[in-house]
Amino acid sequence: MHYWTSGSEAAGLDVLKQLLEKRGVTWSDSPVAGGTGMNMVQVLRARIASDTAPSAAQMHAQQVQAWAAEGVLTDLSDLAKKEDWAKIIAPELVPLISYNGKTVAVPVNVHRSNWLWYNKKVFDKAGVQPPTTWDEFNQVSEKLLAAGVTPLALGGQPWQEADLFENVVLGLGGADFYRKALIEQDQEAIKSETMVKVFDQLRVMNKFVDKNYPGRDWNLATQMVIKGEAGMQIMGDWAKGELSLAKMEPNVDYGCSPAPGTKGDYVWLTDNFGFFTTKDENRVKGQMEMASAILDKDFQEAFNIKKGSIPSRVDVSMDKFDFCGKAAYADRAEAQKTNTSLPSLTHNAATGATKTGVFLDVVSTFFETPTMTSQQAIDQLVAGLKSAE
Ligand code: GAL
Repeated sequence: MHYWTSGSEAAGLDVLKQLLEKRGVTWSDSPVAGGTGMNMVQVLRARIASDTAPSAAQMHAQQVQAWAAEGVLTDLSDLAKKEDWAKIIAPELVPLISYNGKTVAVPVNVHRSNWLWYNKKVFDKAGVQPPTTWDEFNQVSEKLLAAGVTPLALGGQPWQEADLFENVVLGLGGADFYRKALIEQDQEAIKSETMVKVFDQLRVMNKFVDKNYPGRDWNLATQMVIKGEAGMQIMGDWAKGELSLAKMEPNVDYGCSPAPGTKGDYVWLTDNFGFFTTKDENRVKGQMEMASAILDKDFQEAFNIKKGSIPSRVDVSMDKFDFCGKAAYADRAEAQKTNTSLPSLTHNAATGATKTGVFLDVVSTFFETPTMTSQQAIDQLVAGLKSAE
């Protein structure tokens, strides 16, 4: 079960399907459309409740821990030992797939969420440069508006609005504020003047999206940048998968730069597969083959080039990755040194589902409700997080 239904996601998944078929595993998938798994979670829960859990399902870092805590994931420890996962997997990912000393999932990739993608021709024509601060972002957007282009490609879905929010939190507040507000949910940070400014900035951004934004899928927003209907998109590097699929060249047709104010920071998330316990030995065999295939070196390279992410293995050459892929890789290394590598809130890396849900609800309601004040949003966050404890 997965939610990789866009063109580039399906192309990546096809590499896995082919590899598994070569290894004698029958592929039968249940895609549940909806970015960041917003619909898949419910379907998965229903299948588990009715004792028809899939053999494998896509899951983010915090979701691996949550399913492991429920005791429903197959133990992969023997395979992990046999294949020396502790040596080949990026060290920061190992704790994320471990629970009570057991290996319970396999990481496919690492994505970065603090990216700004822009159409170079649109930017050149309007005479603007990629913004490096949120003030510059507003200025650039005004110029794009004046040039008759939608400044920001967005889909009005809670997770896409929350992606903007986490980027503004980091861009205006910096790494320590991000940690305090989003990871620790520190009251002082959430009630601070900086948080008022964050919501104020989101309010300004209402006017930079087109009127058809409600409900739009993220990949359709990327298409707007591809076609030059919109100037920019703030989105994780799965957007690069779509840009590559459309034969857009980095630094020629489009540019990638860190979201405003986040240069030097790397906001990460990982896609993993977890495997649900089953008594069917044949299925268990399939699970082990799939877990092993996901860490295959050639698969890691081919898949991540299509997907826009970077490998979960440490020993895959980045030579064949494009400019933005290489930049992501280098920026991650730098951010790890300066302690500015941060888990994404929206993509279930920073905190558990209930609190993440509170942020998504409040941010989305705020973005959709022009009369709501920044202070009201903060009050709702405080109340929501309190009842989520
Ligand atoms: C992310 C996920 C990516 C990509 C994106 C859009 O949460 O980690 O792999 O699929 O959502 O659905």
